[in-house]
Amino acid sequence: MRKLSFKINISNNKKIYSFLDKYQNISIFPDGEFFFIDIFLLEEKDFFSEIKNLEKELIPYKSTIISDLDLAPIYNLNHRSVKSELFSISRVINKRSKKKKYNLFISQNKSFGTGCHESTFLLIKHIELLVKKRFFFQALDLGTGTGILAFILRKLTNAKIIASDIDIFSKDCFFKNLKKNNLNNIFFQVSNGFKNKNFKRKKFDLIVSNMLLNFQKEMAKSFFLNLENNGILLISGILKNQENEIIIKFSKYKFRLKKKTYMNNWASLIFIKKVFE
Ligand SMILES: C[S@@+](CC[C@H](N)C(=O)[O-])C[C@H]1O[C@@H](n2cnc3c(N)ncnc32)[C@H](O)[C@@H]1O
Repeated sequence: MRKLSFKINISNNKKIYSFLDKYQNISIFPDGEFFFIDIFLLEEKDFFSEIKNLEKELIPYKSTIISDLDLAPIYNLNHRSVKSELFSISRVINKRSKKKKYNLFISQNKSFGTGCHESTFLLIKHIELLVKKRFFFQALDLGTGTGILAFILRKLTNAKIIASDIDIFSKDCFFKNLKKNNLNNIFFQVSNGFKNKNFKRKKFDLIVSNMLLNFQKEMAKSFFLNLENNGILLISGILKNQENEIIIKFSKYKFRLKKKTYMNNWASLIFIKKVFE
């Protein structure tokens, strides 16, 4: 599998929508005036033809194809820390906040998830809210990136936790962060969605997923199959104006909307799976 990483100016949103239609496994993250885009190509042979196509498409838009290594320092420029109700999350090791119950140190390397992005922050808020209301026993963080949400779940629950990502770089980043935070007891699984055989017949009572609209829609059936009845599904990574698409699609799979929260243009939704026998 190869990851093709590049950036594109935020004003080219038509081009970005065309990528969303074309590629199944894609991550797009806004940062300043750029979108940072990762396309995952599962077949090695696709890589060289795609890179040619992308060069054709991107050069007129004055974007550059940059390597994974080039991407890391750009992400790392922003050293902000993030504070939620219970957590202080910093990229600088040992930068502690005495005011917060928990401190996390997250380095990003080439993976996504420091908590600064609205989509992650909304999920952190939702997790903090939910753990006050109920216990969870089997949790999945699908598309874990740096591992941030799995670590939050580890601090706040006694659940068995699986953190999963398609990106092999995420595995490396996840374990570094796990160690940095003296955490253990989280199982990491490299997987494209739920395709890994270890997910077959595996049921969770909590799934958190911070990914873009198309991926979330594609996952609707798998979320249904892998979530217990009355289980909770937390969705993020979608825009406010996309929430109805998600709600309509997910209602076909017995998901009822419990709560939605917004930050800037981003939306995060809490669903409960309700099947009446
Ligand atoms: C927006 S990031 C979320 C990171 C972190 N969970 C957070 O909330 O900040 C999305 C993550 O999903 C991963 N991803 C993209 N396509 C995937 C797929 N088909 N299966 C599993 N993970 C995928 C990316 O590698 C990336 O780490």
